[in-house]
Amino acid sequence: MLINILCIGDLVGKAGRNVLAEHLPGIIRQHAVEFVVCNAENAAGGSGLTPQIYEKLLHYGVDAVTLGDHCFRKGEIFPVLDSSDRIIRPLNLPASAAGRGQIVLPTKSGQHQVAVACVLGQMEMGNNNSPWAAVDETLTKIPDDVKIRIIDFHAEATSEKIAMGWYCNGRTSVVFGTHTHVPTADACVLDKGTAYISDIGMTGPYNSILGRRKDRVLKFLTTGMPQRFEMAVGDPRMYALLVAVDTETGKAKSVESIITRGKPVEGGAYDSDDGGAQARRKSAK
Ligand SMILES: [Fe+2]
Ligand SMILES: [Fe+2]
Repeated sequence: MLINILCIGDLVGKAGRNVLAEHLPGIIRQHAVEFVVCNAENAAGGSGLTPQIYEKLLHYGVDAVTLGDHCFRKGEIFPVLDSSDRIIRPLNLPASAAGRGQIVLPTKSGQHQVAVACVLGQMEMGNNNSPWAAVDETLTKIPDDVKIRIIDFHAEATSEKIAMGWYCNGRTSVVFGTHTHVPTADACVLDKGTAYISDIGMTGPYNSILGRRKDRVLKFLTTGMPQRFEMAVGDPRMYALLVAVDTETGKAKSVESIITRGKPVEGGAYDSDDGGAQARRKSAK
């Protein structure tokens, strides 16, 4: 049988959280979604994730939370990474890092199992361990009867992302790209049954530069003077990839990008869920 899986790109700040809270439950119902995976590395103040937000994401219908290069920006999440079975940090961090990089979870109906892993790229992404070796290793560890396998490839370069799509072709159900926050128009099913997109796009404020206030980023870029990269709020949108997967084979049959516009954000760019030390770092992705 075919089931629908929904993959959501980087969730960015209050604007992103609002649009997800408003629309995710309806999208799940409308498309009979059996499993939702969401990259939440930018959910709290634009950088990192707090336990409060994590719990809310599960309440909204997210089944698995992935992270990226900002996974450890909020220290409050460290115990959750170690104790919760629905959140993963990148697989190719040092083995001693908090949390784990791969999980197997049941679908909403409880009838199927889904393996999820997230992996960091290497190009313009720091000195991470090999994502290729990490993917090979984790795929050998997943039990044979877990046919549905999802990789969140959190990387900068489209070339490296496309390479990962072909590397996993026929070995995973989905490879979806995150990190760049800009949606790409290349969603497809590769010839051996792996659904692929270079970047789903952020779920966050699109009247911005990657989720941050345009004036702050432009002032930094044009003057070279340090700026606080405050969160933007304008034009909140949710970007997601809907994938139909054959439960017998784990192969993807179709993909569809779903774009949903949210209501204007009220009450400022932050709320108490963003954590005490709101992220105002230069890196926006
Ligand atoms: Fe990132
Ligand atoms: Fe990001």
